[in-house]
Amino acid sequence: MTTRILFVCLGNICRSPTAEGVFRGLAAKVGADLVIDSAGTSGWHNGELPDRRSMAEAKRRGYDLSQQRSRKLTAQDFFDFDLILGMDNSNVRNIAAIRPSGALTPVRLFLDYAPGQPLREVPDPYYEDNFEGVFDLIETASQGLLADLAD
Ligand code: 4NP
Repeated sequence: MTTRILFVCLGNICRSPTAEGVFRGLAAKVGADLVIDSAGTSGWHNGELPDRRSMAEAKRRGYDLSQQRSRKLTAQDFFDFDLILGMDNSNVRNIAAIRPSGALTPVRLFLDYAPGQPLREVPDPYYEDNFEGVFDLIETASQGLLADLAD
């Protein structure tokens, strides 16, 4: 059965589009049957490409984010996805705030799948400019998530 996974951050231009593109690239390598998407809780950047710094770091690492466009998280996403992963605790709170009644989709922190390092949240690189560190974290958590799904 296809598993449908949605990555969520605030703007859907830095962290969650990176998670979408990295996870899609790694899943394709192992032939995993997955639906993968991303969204933002804010809607501030609707229709925009990922941040150029995310696109550049992605390209350096062999991922392509150029087909992705920012969109806002909706209540319907709870019915369209099997697992929703927030990048930080505020994302998880904002996702939970729009959960429709009757929707049982789990919402978790993405870094739950990267237990071997001290961070629990993916730091926001928009102002910090720490794109390399964010990519390292996202690659580690993506490998952990793929391993979990293969169990
Ligand atoms: P993201 O980063 O949530 O990882 O996409 C941000 C992007 C834009 C803004 C904040 C965070 N912003 O304030 O516009």
